[in-house]
Amino acid sequence: MLRAAELNGYTVIGILAGWAGLLEGRFKELRYSDFENAIGSGGTMLTTSRTNPLKKEHGLETIEANMKKAGIDALIAVGGDDTLGVASKLAELGVRVVGVPKTIDNDLAGTDYSFGFFTAVDEAAKLIESLATTGRSHERVMVVEVMGRDAGWIASFAGMAAGANMIIVPEFETSLDSVVELVKSRAASGKNSSVIVVAEGVSFGYKSDIEKDEFGHALVAKAAGENNASFLARYIEQKTGVETRATVLGHSIRGTTPNSYDRIMTTLLGFRAVEALHSGNSGVMVAVHGTSVVEVPLTEGSKKKFLDEKTWNVAKSFFA
Ligand code: F6P
Repeated sequence: MLRAAELNGYTVIGILAGWAGLLEGRFKELRYSDFENAIGSGGTMLTTSRTNPLKKEHGLETIEANMKKAGIDALIAVGGDDTLGVASKLAELGVRVVGVPKTIDNDLAGTDYSFGFFTAVDEAAKLIESLATTGRSHERVMVVEVMGRDAGWIASFAGMAAGANMIIVPEFETSLDSVVELVKSRAASGKNSSVIVVAEGVSFGYKSDIEKDEFGHALVAKAAGENNASFLARYIEQKTGVETRATVLGHSIRGTTPNSYDRIMTTLLGFRAVEALHSGNSGVMVAVHGTSVVEVPLTEGSKKKFLDEKTWNVAKSFFA
């Protein structure tokens, strides 16, 4: 906003409820005063939705028409692979658009990290540590489920940061036997408490018919009844005899106060997104490469990035 005003006195229009807002023409002119105390706020003041314009009849054309009607010349699309996938289709049609990677899941190609991820990891690690403390006091196994529909980035980073005894992610198979073995061997050496972190996206085969969103993703965080934490906790207790408790951190790690890294990175990404548009670029995504902010093709942002083997091997080396 600040950079847009500085560069050319642009008017900045906020689009409410994501793609739904562009389809329905729900806009709000933004002023600098709207952002005065925003740097420490989680979530989005513009609200969001899981609406997919590609699933609506003439969705992209409606967006173009609504942009024209509201005098919007260019779009900055902030979101994960679904949002950026739609943005890249609009770019193909000739709409001026720049993407900004945002998802706590960090499962977005083309960027090292997406903003929101490290804040979610900090929050999850803090909560896992307090669960570990109560687990040690009561000599229990604590099973903690964290978000990560397709990727184990949050589970592995938060698990490592909190010193979890075992982490289970969707990308690399972990047998239930190995979980039981770990808990038993710790109990045999007098450690009756263990912490197991599991990503919500891991499939243990007990789930079926999960409702899907408009992008075709299973709404695992919505599914009622059994979840990975409760399933594992029951299994571990049955097989080891060690008292076990299950906790699903779920949405509680999304929307918390952003940490300094996310505040600064978001600011740098925002400046670069405006500069990209100002210099005439379109169809690009601003991205984090190491400590720099760069531009990459927007199509990169519609691809998935999974936990890599090297990081996983480091995480695994702490399992004990
Ligand atoms: O944005 C991805 C994600 O954080 C997933 O990890 C999780 O499954 C999903 O959002 C939850 O979505 P909703 O808020 O729609 O329940």
